[in-house]
Amino acid sequence: MVDIIYGRGFTDLAREMPFYISIFKKIIAYRLFKSKQPMYGSVDVNNICNLHCTHCYWWLNRKEGEDLTAEDWRKIIKEKINKNHLFVVTLVGGEPTMRPDVIQTFCEEMPRRVCVVTNATFPLKRFDNLYFYWVSMDGTEKIHDMIRGKGSYAKTKQNILDYIAGPDRQGKAAWRDIWITMTINSQNYMTVEDLTEEWRGKVNKIGFQFHTPFAKGDPLFMPFGEKRSEVVDKIIALKKKYPDFVINSPKQISLMKGNWGGIGTTPVDCPSWAIMSFDHMGRIKMPCCIGSADPKAQKPLCEECGLGCYSILVAQGIVGN
Ligand SMILES: C[S@@+](CC[C@H](N)C(=O)[O-])C[C@H]1O[C@@H](n2cnc3c(N)ncnc32)[C@H](O)[C@@H]1O
Ligand code: SF4
Ligand code: SF4
Repeated sequence: MVDIIYGRGFTDLAREMPFYISIFKKIIAYRLFKSKQPMYGSVDVNNICNLHCTHCYWWLNRKEGEDLTAEDWRKIIKEKINKNHLFVVTLVGGEPTMRPDVIQTFCEEMPRRVCVVTNATFPLKRFDNLYFYWVSMDGTEKIHDMIRGKGSYAKTKQNILDYIAGPDRQGKAAWRDIWITMTINSQNYMTVEDLTEEWRGKVNKIGFQFHTPFAKGDPLFMPFGEKRSEVVDKIIALKKKYPDFVINSPKQISLMKGNWGGIGTTPVDCPSWAIMSFDHMGRIKMPCCIGSADPKAQKPLCEECGLGCYSILVAQGIVGN
């Protein structure tokens, strides 16, 4: 199958034409009338995780609570997600692979429009209609384990290697299903190049974003300035060297040299409305996918934000709240 854009072939593009038209209409409506209609989705499909990573925002605001059933999610997909014509939905958590029944339901209702972000410490299941897996790797082995727990890198690596050694999926080699995402912070920034070299030629893509703090003085935040800008320039150089592997555009990653998002905890240039974000109970999270449905919860610092999924929209000219 020929890849045209982001791993999608002619048949995908033909089937999904109504969604491209819908997104195009939403962008035009935004540009002409400042009409803000969500284009993408993010869903915390569960309220549990097997790891407790040092940098993780999810644990900050996590409260005890039940998960929804797969049928509850089917209803939410029909009534909220598909009604809003959300093009691609990213399943997050917690750890979404602990709920394969919910992933299966999303794949049934939104074929080839579902990505799963995972720590990949459990074997990766083949879902017929999945778009791809975003596997989180926070540096090379030693640093990744410092952040995610001893032995986690080896498990994740093995599960990726087992998956890509498996059969094709929908006529495509399995390595195409694996994209790596690295969240850069003050402890792992020096491993960006080594991680890229380690996985190049084995998996499909790698993408970088920066740690987003929820409080001033978070030691994991990389302050704006020379060191952070050097990391950004390294990623731009990697993009030039491996244009098909590194997913960040120079324009998007350059935004990470400074404040592109907002003031304090308020989004200004960040188009937080463009991604409809659901928590594990199907409630809308504010202001964005790392926020919360509870207005009293701790909030991310927009003025120090490093998230990739919103800054990519800013780089494409979709700006503002
Ligand atoms: C919350 S996790 C949920 C999915 C899955 N458990 C995983 O680790 O991939 C989703 C992504 O958010 C990233 N993340 C966690 N805390 C973050 C923070 N404070 N700033 C930016 N990204 C963060 C993680 O590294 C991971 O790639
Ligand atoms: S595995 Fe994911 S959700 Fe769990 S603690 Fe780590 S980053 Fe957070
Ligand atoms: S993505 Fe970043 S800038 Fe946008 S609302 Fe969330 S924390 Fe603020």
